[in-house]
Amino acid sequence: TSSLRAAARGSGVRIGTAVDMSTLADDAPYRAAVAREFDTVTAENEMKWQVVEPERGRYDWAAADRLVDFARANGQAVRGHTLVWHNQNPSWLTEDAFTPAELRRILRDHIHTEVRHFKGRIWHWDVVNEAINEDGTLRDSIWLRALGPGYIADAFRWAHEADPKAKLYLNDYNNEGVNAKSDAYYALVKRLRAEGVPVHGYGMQGHLAVQYGFPDTVAENVRRFDVLGVQTAFTEVDVRMILPADPVKVQAQAQGFSSLLQACLLARHCVSYTLWGFTDRYSWVPGWFDGEGSATPFDEELRPKPAYQALRNTF
Ligand code: XIL
Repeated sequence: TSSLRAAARGSGVRIGTAVDMSTLADDAPYRAAVAREFDTVTAENEMKWQVVEPERGRYDWAAADRLVDFARANGQAVRGHTLVWHNQNPSWLTEDAFTPAELRRILRDHIHTEVRHFKGRIWHWDVVNEAINEDGTLRDSIWLRALGPGYIADAFRWAHEADPKAKLYLNDYNNEGVNAKSDAYYALVKRLRAEGVPVHGYGMQGHLAVQYGFPDTVAENVRRFDVLGVQTAFTEVDVRMILPADPVKVQAQAQGFSSLLQACLLARHCVSYTLWGFTDRYSWVPGWFDGEGSATPFDEELRPKPAYQALRNTF
């Protein structure tokens, strides 16, 4: 097997990466690696509200459309990311500027417009991103404050109206193992499904760090969603470390990547495993976590690291 993509074939789990569209345009070896190694792609930023509707009523789908075209040309599925979030919203979208009733219409129109735009071309949508706190309560956000807790069910219904075939996901971080946050997600998914809300998947971002160790109840957590009959996916996996990297950290990192993949492969309905960037050349980690980095399976020269071999061997 000469690529992750080839290694994943027949496993029931698609292997993906987040893609940055300007990098895809400018860096030919990066572009070749995306096509060779992966069978799904996610826009790292280009489908977020801030990018697709920078001014109210002016939509810009150019970058996202290019990704969808690239994916089609390379036989790849697309994970749409993300429709409802508290981050990376356009600057015009503030609570001061609109009444709650207006915000509800704005959210509905946003979901309808974006999902319709890509209708038939998106495998999974991350419909609601990062809606729950570590203690299991709903996150305080413009949506919770203006619309109340029902905004989650509404968002899924609106997305389903616009593209009935797309699989619709909740997505969050620190929800990979069994803990208060994933308990709350489990209860939420169970309740929404009982109410007939079209929720199809539970996404676990999988932003791990070598220095904190890795959650050890991931298989158990994934299994309970299996039993509910919903899909699961690892949606943004990276395993950062305190710099400088050394062989011990790099080895631990390989284990972190493969432990999540193993949990996915052990599950019935875990269908997707996505890296949040595949090369240290462009990872978001150094810009967001002071003194940390080296978080992906390929180094800055696009050479595979032990994590790459570990992922291939785990499939
Ligand atoms: C990150 C991107 O990687 C960065 O380029 C951007 O500046 C900020 O957002 N959880 C998510 C992703 O759901 O959308 C975030 O992506 C990383 C954390």
